[in-house]
Amino acid sequence: MRKLIIAIDGPAGAGKSTTARRVAERLGYLYVDTGAMYRAVTFAVLRAGISLCEEAVARILPQLQIGLRSTPGGQRTLLNGEDITEQLRLPEVTRWVSLVSSYPSVRRFLVEQQRRLGQGGGVVMDGRDIGTVVFPDADVKVFLTASLPVRARRRLRELQERGILATEEEVASDLQRRDLLDSRRTESPLSCAPDAVVVDTTELTIEEQTESVLELVRQKLCNKSG
Ligand code: DC
Repeated sequence: MRKLIIAIDGPAGAGKSTTARRVAERLGYLYVDTGAMYRAVTFAVLRAGISLCEEAVARILPQLQIGLRSTPGGQRTLLNGEDITEQLRLPEVTRWVSLVSSYPSVRRFLVEQQRRLGQGGGVVMDGRDIGTVVFPDADVKVFLTASLPVRARRRLRELQERGILATEEEVASDLQRRDLLDSRRTESPLSCAPDAVVVDTTELTIEEQTESVLELVRQKLCNKSG
């Protein structure tokens, strides 16, 4: 059976990573968190202490090797061989990632790698532009959304689990700020592909979100073989 490409897009905190990871596990597919790749570039730029202007960022891209490793605990992200997974959620990285990911040179650099990772199918990829730019011909496209308070509460819980302190108001205003920047940028903005299925996760459990995507996969596989 041909292995599908499943694209999951949506704003921050809509449940993309958790849903995508579980769908990948159930199908035995590769899970790719593309947000982690943009965060890895942002982390590398901040650590190098260089200017955050596009020219400076573009200059260091050839020195960056971003590796993704699937483990039972989730995706680990490597920067030139070093595991930087824990650093990717630092507030400083979150603060700058929307700017760095708006640069066309950064997007070209990462989109090429994302296409290579998914080219054979058997992949669940989550991000902002997977169904619109990275894989416009993806077999299944899902756009996950949820109300702002629910997204803020989910993100706050994730941060607390990592020992990062914040208030719900701070998290909500950060999500709003990033959604605005991510939706308004000229290059590959966050947008719902016309042929994506919108799933509002505000009232859904993780299991229900996962099931709704798996149901779309089943329908696709039935249509393909029928
Ligand atoms: O999913 P996340 O919050 O880890 O993503 C971090 C940032 O990366 C997000 O604010 C926008 C950017 N991003 C992007 O521009 N395109 C993607 N495909 C994934 C993430």
